[in-house]
Amino acid sequence: MTDLRFALIGAGFIGRIHGLALQAVNHVFADAPRAVATLLVDQDAALAERQATQLGFAGWSTDWRAALDRVDAVIIAVPSFMHREIALAALDAGKHVLCEKPVGRSAAEAGEIAAAAARSAVTNGVGFTYLRAPMVRHAAAIVASGVLGKPVSFRGWHAEDYLADPEAPFSWRLDAGLAGRSGALGDLGWHIISIARQLCGPVVALNGLAETRYAKRATGRPGEPPRSVENEDWAGMLTRFETGAVGSIEASRIAHGRKMDIGFDLTCEQGGIAFHGERANELALYRHGEEAAQQGFKTVRIDGAHPDYAAFLPAPAHGLGFNDLKTIELHGFLLAIAAGRNLDPDLDEACRIARVCEAVLDSSVRGARIEQPEAGHSIGSHKETVVA
Ligand SMILES: NC(=O)c1ccc[n+]([C@@H]2O[C@H](COP(=O)([O-])OP(=O)(O)OC[C@H]3O[C@@H](n4cnc5c(N)ncnc54)[C@H](O)[C@@H]3O)[C@@H](O)[C@H]2O)c1
Repeated sequence: MTDLRFALIGAGFIGRIHGLALQAVNHVFADAPRAVATLLVDQDAALAERQATQLGFAGWSTDWRAALDRVDAVIIAVPSFMHREIALAALDAGKHVLCEKPVGRSAAEAGEIAAAAARSAVTNGVGFTYLRAPMVRHAAAIVASGVLGKPVSFRGWHAEDYLADPEAPFSWRLDAGLAGRSGALGDLGWHIISIARQLCGPVVALNGLAETRYAKRATGRPGEPPRSVENEDWAGMLTRFETGAVGSIEASRIAHGRKMDIGFDLTCEQGGIAFHGERANELALYRHGEEAAQQGFKTVRIDGAHPDYAAFLPAPAHGLGFNDLKTIELHGFLLAIAAGRNLDPDLDEACRIARVCEAVLDSSVRGARIEQPEAGHSIGSHKETVVA
């Protein structure tokens, strides 16, 4: 297997985790091509240099375009407003692309990137970190096995509190021109929607509600007036899935005390599964049919029997963390490159999730149910599919 030279573009919060994954992946997994941490790119030269040294990159740069010539693959870990330009250039240059969510600022941008990827011969994938969690994949395997029957209902959420304080300052995430029209949905909702789709199938109808609770935020710069917040703090949807299951999904960035709270409650015909991200090394499983005195959810603890855990640890229940999920994601990406296919989910599926998010916002504005949200092509196209 040939070595693959990587440029990591973005050395901020998630960029650093990708950098750690690039160092770890071939030590944890022995069956993938070797990932070479070739270049760390950030517009902030001091940050790029510091992180490149700390994370063991061969070099660093502030120029992502020039970096493309020196690598085989790129990880796009910059804010959403840069995804389109970098992804299109990388695909055009024949580089494999692993892009962070939410891909681009809109369904239109996600669609443009997905279309370019479909025309290319390279591998692509998207940073749906929590889909890599062994216990989420175990839940998906239980559902796919049919042992619990078909999914009936799904209650999912991703709640954090990074903007719960009304005094928290404005950032690029609140600027629609930089982050996109989706706020909590784009930042957090993407993750739980990706899990919902994996367990219950594509979204075929929804009613959405979105709210910007804190309409203005201080910029943090003395003397400047507060800025208007341009996307939602909270969004929710009632959904129907292709499998016939129904559900509710909520995304919030203003949920006091919820630091990293992603989770779901899935009811199936013959039992249920519950997952809480703050206890990501466990799954609660209920099997219908036990005698009344024994009924209740049982806790399944992470073990070598669950996907990828044994590559990290030989003993059960010691637990994986967020950073490990990025190592698992990168391992999947390397295997996908070696096999000449895309990482699942790929950019095409990301585009469908972007359309679901826009449909939630459209539904909220119009007070109307939206049918087949994944089939739309842009905000405008939902006009034809709204059922009053
Ligand atoms: N999958 C996950 O779990 C997860 C978690 C956090 C963030 N993200 C996503 O990752 C992306 C980045 O988020 P973050 O939290 O790391 O942001 P961040 O603000 O912490 O870091 C972004 C970095 O990109 C750099 N940058 C901006 N424009 C650039 C350019 N033109 N060229 C080079 N560097 C540039 C900035 O200097 C900064 O260091 C977003 O799309 C976000 O939604 C995903």
